Amino acid sequence: AENVGILAMEFYFPSQYVDQTELEKFDGVSAGKYTVGLGQNKMGFCSDREDINSLCLTALHRLIEKNNISLHDIGRLEVGTETIIDKSKSVKTFLMTLFAKEGATDIEGIDTTNACYGGTAALFNAINWVESSSWDGRKAIVIAGDIAVYGKGPARPTGGAGAVAMLVGPDAPLVFDCGVRASYMTHAYDFYKADLASEFPYVDGKLSIKCYLNALDNCYNLFCKKMRKVDPSFKGLLSLDGMLFHSPYCRLVQKSLARICFNDFLNASPDVRESQFPGLSQFKDYKLEDTYFDKDVEKAFMTYSDKLFNEKTLPSLHIASNVGNMYTASLYGGLVSYLVSKSPDQLIGKKFALFSYGSGLASTMYSINICNDMSAGSKLSKLINSLNDTIHLLDKRQSVEPIKFSEIMELRTANYHTAPYDPSGSIDVLFPGTYYLIHIDDQRRRTYDRR
Ligand code: ACO
Repeated sequence: AENVGILAMEFYFPSQYVDQTELEKFDGVSAGKYTVGLGQNKMGFCSDREDINSLCLTALHRLIEKNNISLHDIGRLEVGTETIIDKSKSVKTFLMTLFAKEGATDIEGIDTTNACYGGTAALFNAINWVESSSWDGRKAIVIAGDIAVYGKGPARPTGGAGAVAMLVGPDAPLVFDCGVRASYMTHAYDFYKADLASEFPYVDGKLSIKCYLNALDNCYNLFCKKMRKVDPSFKGLLSLDGMLFHSPYCRLVQKSLARICFNDFLNASPDVRESQFPGLSQFKDYKLEDTYFDKDVEKAFMTYSDKLFNEKTLPSLHIASNVGNMYTASLYGGLVSYLVSKSPDQLIGKKFALFSYGSGLASTMYSINICNDMSAGSKLSKLINSLNDTIHLLDKRQSVEPIKFSEIMELRTANYHTAPYDPSGSIDVLFPGTYYLIHIDDQRRRTYDRR
């Protein structure tokens, strides 16, 4: 198969959000901490009516409906998530309810988990399958979704919730570059969920930022090396039209783009450094590993990269700033935001890199090319038009006061393990087409319906 990549996409975020300015007041932190310091506007959240199965069902069903996908044309279905509600039964098996009722049960793939990275791992599985000898000509669907919630405290404003559904196959408008994926994986206790009785992670905020930036340095340098093997004229960021990141919160993404420039600066030859990075020579002997929290380096390269950020990265942050961290779906919310910010004409022939990070830790940088043949062009227009409908739902959401949000979080926490359980969250508030939890019985079996 050739030009394997993403053929169609759908995105789902909850219909309710809490405003970060109001949350600053409610939490008693200084004005601007969440909105300026973290770069977040609004945070989407789910009541007890939604869980990971319903979120993924919603995204999947929308993708199928909007693209008239024949279920017998799907040979692989993958899920990436870190929202675990069952230690054995996968989310994928719940999604099979849609397929099984049509008799479509010959479908490979299962759930993949490692913090925010599982969605990318699932996507790579699907791409690899289409490119492999196991491929039987059908398409794959990848779902990545999470409900990101933190206990009370400084991490809580970096929550969010969402799910993406992606149709993968050959002759795609968004084509994955071959042979240049660059990964960095190692062990770290920066963020993990070892308390199986709780929905909340253990998180060492500062360490998680250091791990993220360290993973970025490693992936970016290796990615550039691999790209230069394929194309000796590859110049890092300057050769990319877009640079997209996993977004725990938007300010970290802006710092990451600055970090990419710092890497380019350190890697540049002395004369290129002079011409391309005027006035920054005092940093030439700095080491990556000493500068994760170096305010001078950060400030200098944030200033340097301001224009590049606005051009190559900011368009990808629309969903992230208005919904929050969606863990496995976060990077793909970035892709959706980037695509809808442009017209198909502006996108044809463009190349961009994506950085996926999951604590613990697993990370990869890879790249996508927007195909420029005519049939891909019309597929691209269709993809963007369909995403535009979804993006408009951001403005149709309901704002919920922080006190109410806090109560809903408490209810989720209190009933995380309750069975039997009848959720009390409003069904009317959900967007039409949203799946929701009806009941958990005394054997902890869950049933769903669709609004
Ligand atoms: N106006 C403007 N900026 C402000 C204000 C204000 N009133 N108050 C604080 N700030 C700035 C701070 O200076 C800081 O900026 P800096 O990062 O440039 O230094 C920023 O806001 C955050 O303030 P801190 O005091 O550093 O925040 P805190 O330590 O309380 O929490 C953290 C931030 C660690 C990100 C926390 O929210 C967290 O643990 N989140 C979850 C972990 C996470 O997302 N990690 C990222 C990678 S791992 C992953 O993807 C899960």
